[in-house]
Amino acid sequence: MSNIPVLTIDGPSGSGKGTIAQLIAKKLGWHYLDSGAIYRVLAQAAIKHHVELDNEPELAQMAAQLDLVFSLDNDQLVVKLEGDDVSHQIRSEQAGNAASKVAALALVRSALLERQRQFRQAPGLVTDGRDMGTVVFPDANTKVFLTASAKVRAERRYKQLKQKGIESNLSDLISEISERDKRDSQRSVAPLIPAEDALVLDSSEMGIETVYRHIITLCGDV
Ligand code: DC
Repeated sequence: MSNIPVLTIDGPSGSGKGTIAQLIAKKLGWHYLDSGAIYRVLAQAAIKHHVELDNEPELAQMAAQLDLVFSLDNDQLVVKLEGDDVSHQIRSEQAGNAASKVAALALVRSALLERQRQFRQAPGLVTDGRDMGTVVFPDANTKVFLTASAKVRAERRYKQLKQKGIESNLSDLISEISERDKRDSQRSVAPLIPAEDALVLDSSEMGIETVYRHIITLCGDV
């Protein structure tokens, strides 16, 4: 166990946990781990190397050797796979769904455990994902489970895509989000559930500012 403080923010896709986690990491001057990006990159690597998304032994081996580098450029997370910048590529709905499939495999998750724990560096770590408070950092000082209804999350995603000039269909987004929630919550390893000692925040009716203030207040106790 380590004395370095950790704040975990878990929750379903589109709950806003990534945006909030980055804002808080910046405010506290702490490191930031986007654990979902690791699963997204692994899925990307599998597609690149023609490995099926349910080939557990091969994917676990790829996970253990994944050539992945995170860096920051003007506060933006830059993600490189085998030296190639995949920051944008890994953010599509398709990449998220592929990530959710590889993330359901037990051997893959255990192969990535230590790599995630290595992000715990002074002065502290803010991390977001699905199992940060339950499995990866069970001794975290502060745990938040950030959620919102599937409809609200799909609407947020629809707006984001529109801003990027990408047309999408709201009802398709709602069913994709619901399907991913189901897979992430019903898998047998590290399912998407709040840690017993997590504060559960439903952001359906809250703006980002309000969520941020709630969490930063909690961190006052770190
Ligand atoms: O947070 P995200 O949408 O970038 O995550 C993509 C997928 O990766 C998500 O559907 C489930 C998986 N994931 C996971 O299983 N455990 C984590 N800690 C983070 C993500």
